[in-house]
Amino acid sequence: MANHALDNAARILGQARCTIAFTGAGISVESGIPPFRGPGGVWSKYDPAMFEKAYFKQHPQEVWPLLKTIFYDTLARARPNPAHYALADLEAAGRLAGVITQNIDGLHQAAGSRTVHEYHGSTRRMQCLACRAFFDSASISLERLPPPCPACGGTLKPDFIFFSEPIPFEVHRAATDLAQASDVCLIVGTGGEVMPAGRIPHLVKSAGGTVIEINLYETRYSYGFSDIFLQGKAGTLLPELAEKTLAA
Ligand code: APR
Repeated sequence: MANHALDNAARILGQARCTIAFTGAGISVESGIPPFRGPGGVWSKYDPAMFEKAYFKQHPQEVWPLLKTIFYDTLARARPNPAHYALADLEAAGRLAGVITQNIDGLHQAAGSRTVHEYHGSTRRMQCLACRAFFDSASISLERLPPPCPACGGTLKPDFIFFSEPIPFEVHRAATDLAQASDVCLIVGTGGEVMPAGRIPHLVKSAGGTVIEINLYETRYSYGFSDIFLQGKAGTLLPELAEKTLAA
């Protein structure tokens, strides 16, 4: 990595009025969680059409075993990696206002980040499609699938966003407000392929802000949108960037 780009990015982070991180699956790859797209991506193994909300409601007995394999079994073993800790360090030092993440793995909070907007929800809770009650996922056994609602026996759905499902108003509003108040957006581990999440960096840029991108492969942001594109692994680049920013 040409150091001047990293030095440039650290200078920008050091001088920023309000910085947000916009993160996706790539920041958790080094925690053992596969990305959705690109080499080894989930959508190269499973048909995303099965994760449309309507399909899940009609075929919960078919989709639940995949949800367990893809999400619950994988996330149970996942721990934060140095990239997550670097963002928590930047926040603790007052150089990051918060994280807007598309991830549902809870690893930002596990690493110590305090302001985290989970734009696509999380695996933390489940909701019954029949009686609408919420349950802590830790209290629901996945031995029997689909897991029956403890209250009414209905079908439980993970409290994260399926395709064609709207973003909950509160998190959309909180994330949008934070992005619109920011003058620097640090994109980490996402190609912004999914909307409306992918528009978050544009809110910062269109208000005259600066965009710094850390991705392993080039994305639709990389050339013509990001002001600085640091190509490489988040687990390596983010700690370096945080160290340079906090040393200044
Ligand atoms: N370090 C940094 N970036 C990485 C790494 C890594 N170790 N590994 C992969 N990446 C980058 C890739 O370059 C790619 O741009 O992470 C990105 C992963 O892209 P996606 O798998 O599409 O993940 P994401 O953008 O979060 O997907 C958005 O799509 O399926 C839906 O709801 C799901 O939230 C998800 C949304």
